[in-house]
Amino acid sequence: MNELRVEPVTPAVGAQVSGVDLGKPLAPEIRAALESALLEHGVLFFRDQDISVDEQVAFARQLGEISIPPFAPKYGDDPEVVVLDQVSPKGEGADEWHSDNTFMAEPPMGSILKAVQLPRQGGDTCFAHMGAAYDALSEPLRRLVEGLSAVHDITKPLAKAIAAGHSEANLAEVQAKWPPVVHPVVRTHPVTGRKVLFVNGNSTTRLVGLSDRENEALLRLLIDHVRDPTFQCRFRWDTHSVAFWDNRLVQHYAVPDYTERRVMHRVTLVGDRPR
Ligand code: SIN
Repeated sequence: MNELRVEPVTPAVGAQVSGVDLGKPLAPEIRAALESALLEHGVLFFRDQDISVDEQVAFARQLGEISIPPFAPKYGDDPEVVVLDQVSPKGEGADEWHSDNTFMAEPPMGSILKAVQLPRQGGDTCFAHMGAAYDALSEPLRRLVEGLSAVHDITKPLAKAIAAGHSEANLAEVQAKWPPVVHPVVRTHPVTGRKVLFVNGNSTTRLVGLSDRENEALLRLLIDHVRDPTFQCRFRWDTHSVAFWDNRLVQHYAVPDYTERRVMHRVTLVGDRPR
């Protein structure tokens, strides 16, 4: 392999990384360089990584502990690997801006997604930097939202997955096991200290202490703020592409514009309680 290269995709978010083979153990200095690039850019994109499921898991293990999602189709009996296998993705959940599994008290630190089978056109994934989104709020609004917290609930994403046939979970049982949690609306990144807007359209259901009318206006505004393209980049997948994102820092949106089969394998890493 050549020297490691990190090329930003947009000023706000994303970098294309080359010169590393994710199927091989990472040298300590390469692992450190990837971790630092991830903190800077929020999501890293790798191409031509023809790695097996075991190699994807081994890559993930070098970066953290693997998080087992409460629901999701698994790879065979392996609960560490989630298989996203879709043909008609509209309304199935990933086509809503979100970060993964924020309904957990300790949402994942990051996710590693590999393209296995792709439609001939479409199926890109967009990413948005929520630190840049926070910075772009006006100063008075930043002051207001910094003191707020919000409820995150598994119900909506799980109900969508069940309705689409992607999960055989029992809604009531999973809801009982994973009750709603409260997270700050603005979290502080545990490594960099950067402030990050931390609400998303998939799981955040209300701002604590606000009336219904206030919620309708303010929560909607904060969730929709992610739609500004200034904070975003868009990744066109090839077979064997891999994306590795910091789930504390970015949201993502899988564009539901395809009608041919798209199969992705995702491994998520254990995170911490947002503060
Ligand atoms: C996800 O929402 O984690 C998957 C995104 C994608 O399939 O592009």
